[in-house]
Amino acid sequence: MNSTSKKQLLKFKFLLILLIIGGLHGYSQNTMISGMDQLQWEKVMPGVWKATFGTMGMNAFDYINPPKTDAITALGDVAFPFHKDSTFSQLTPNHATVRLPLDKTENIYGLGLEFDGINRRGNVYTLKVDHYGGTKGYTHAPVPFYVSSKGYGVLINSAQRVKIHVGVGNRKDSKVPTPIDRTTGENWPARPLSDAVEASVQGTGFEVYVFGGNTPLEVVQRYNLYCGGGILPPKWGLGFWHRMHTQSSSDDVFNEIKDFKEHNFPLEVIGLEPGWQNFAYPCSFDWSETRFPNPEQFVQSLNNKGIKVNLWENPYVAPTSTLFKTIKPYTGSHTVWLGEVPDFSMPEARKAMMDHHQKNHLSIGVSGYKFDEVDGYDFWLWPDHATFPSGNDAVELRQLYGLIMQDMLDDHLKKQNKRTYGLIRSSYIGASSKNFVIYSDHYSHKGYVTALANSSLSGVLWTPEIRSAKTAEEWIRRFQTVCFSPLMMLNAWSSGKKPWSFPEVTDMVRDNIRLREQLLPYIYTAFYKYQEKGIPPFRAMVLEDGYTSQDKLTGGKLDDSKNPYAEKKRIEATDQYMMGSSILVAPVFSGQTERKIVLPQGNWFDFYTGKYMGNGETITVQTKLEQIPLLVKDGAIIPMISDRSQNIPSIEARHYGSKENTYTLYNDDGESYDYEKGQFSLTELKVEKRKNGKLIGTSKSTKNNKFNYGEITWRWMTH
Ligand code: GAL
Repeated sequence: MNSTSKKQLLKFKFLLILLIIGGLHGYSQNTMISGMDQLQWEKVMPGVWKATFGTMGMNAFDYINPPKTDAITALGDVAFPFHKDSTFSQLTPNHATVRLPLDKTENIYGLGLEFDGINRRGNVYTLKVDHYGGTKGYTHAPVPFYVSSKGYGVLINSAQRVKIHVGVGNRKDSKVPTPIDRTTGENWPARPLSDAVEASVQGTGFEVYVFGGNTPLEVVQRYNLYCGGGILPPKWGLGFWHRMHTQSSSDDVFNEIKDFKEHNFPLEVIGLEPGWQNFAYPCSFDWSETRFPNPEQFVQSLNNKGIKVNLWENPYVAPTSTLFKTIKPYTGSHTVWLGEVPDFSMPEARKAMMDHHQKNHLSIGVSGYKFDEVDGYDFWLWPDHATFPSGNDAVELRQLYGLIMQDMLDDHLKKQNKRTYGLIRSSYIGASSKNFVIYSDHYSHKGYVTALANSSLSGVLWTPEIRSAKTAEEWIRRFQTVCFSPLMMLNAWSSGKKPWSFPEVTDMVRDNIRLREQLLPYIYTAFYKYQEKGIPPFRAMVLEDGYTSQDKLTGGKLDDSKNPYAEKKRIEATDQYMMGSSILVAPVFSGQTERKIVLPQGNWFDFYTGKYMGNGETITVQTKLEQIPLLVKDGAIIPMISDRSQNIPSIEARHYGSKENTYTLYNDDGESYDYEKGQFSLTELKVEKRKNGKLIGTSKSTKNNKFNYGEITWRWMTH
């Protein structure tokens, strides 16, 4: 071969390689989109990039904790996940738009606290803070952050409502397959596959963040860490919460506490609903003199019994409130339920609210709040054209309102070195470092379990609180789910129900609550990892190693009434999730006598018996009314409280399967922020195999033994 043909061959090989590389990236690589500009990326931290275009309004980052830089650095660096020249932005008089590439097989997760489905591909969401329902994307926490199955995440940092087209809608420049003739062709798609995610706001610009990662979990970790890391709730917050009927008085509360004792039920937090105030909807935030004549004595007497008090409120200020005059100059143009709306983006409004709350509630021992009604339906919240004294936009203020309120209280109590744990009905970007859990009126048990999974993809916590039930079976099934969630609460504000309201299942309810309480060392350690490493304590299966997405396309038959477009539907495993490092929770719904559980790769064991259950397969289990199915990974070490009556509880360390393993058990004072100054203990629990195959367990204090648990005994669950 002469040198010219050698050169030609090399050139050919080079072109071939280019073609292959191009092909690998599918049709998602565009170097030009007409009318759009390429985004300019700036690396802000290892694995985190930012592109800004135009100008933005309110910024959620003003209300969240600073990034945990060391923890992000410890995750290491990763490459930018797509071709920088295939990312675009566009500013038109009405919209700011961004376009990012999407591969053919990519799944997209996240986009807020949805009650429906996990995979967002093939849909359009309008991400709006709302009281849920109707339009896709209207929810309590419409976080504009998504995670790709390919291992990267994208945050659209805007306080405007983000409208996002996830793999639907094609531009003329898109590199997509040719159209199919519906009359003669097969598989005509009602939603032709698209090669991009396009997100837009009615605004003048925004920031886009990209979070890299080797796995979807690492992406979520980076996002959470960038937003200040996860929270570590006070220990009491992980106990049992009971919310009283709205008309209850202090005497009713004392009687209820006695009742709890007589029925042998634990009780860590009492929640008071609107009627603790002398005026509600709008709110006075002042105690009702008739129902709570002596608030100080009331709260202190509960605290002395080891019970915390949580107060319900919405932020709309009643004209009769003692706060009214002070806060009035800092309220918006419109009222909600005829109460004035504080502009909490103004330090003056925050101060007025916190001064009032400090004086009337916090100084006498109230532990925190349930901030209600900050999500709205449009027909009761302020309109989009409302004006506020800060000059901030009403739409943006609504998106951020719940987040700002969380920040306001956290900030206030942190100065007193007190951790709080409370409830909030709306949240937004970066809420992982806020001491609040979201709840809803939606009340679909299935939807609540899906929300538990989805919460982990959006940096928020969620409680599937129980209120009431039609049958004893539904009661125990809902109770079981709530026992395996971030906040175990009976919200009896209108039903007045007690945990023992269905006598047939009372013992089962008690046993489930007790089991949750025994698991406190394990759950608390899971939260420590949330705080330290950004790993959500309750996680969607898509974040789990060895899990293969079960997405199936079913249907596709033309049907005039049900399926006029012969569309294929996506079926996902949305009814199971992970709790802590190694427990898979598979709630059972009323009426189910068996259920399917999707097991990731690796051997899995039954929590209760230690029996082998399967590996990387879908199993069917027969349900037992008294138990929520819990499956445990091979080698799992699960520390449980074995004797609570002791001052320093002793621990039973359970081991499952046959693998060697090391588990680091965390503990601290359970209520202050001293852990941030190194005031915590770590105990290494280690399981090793002897030459004869026998497992032995050891424990060693590795950091500070001030908060160590008592005696540790080992239990080998799988023989
Ligand atoms: C609802 C809230 C309930 C309860 C009630 C009191 O909006 O979701 O949990 O607090 O208000 O009026």
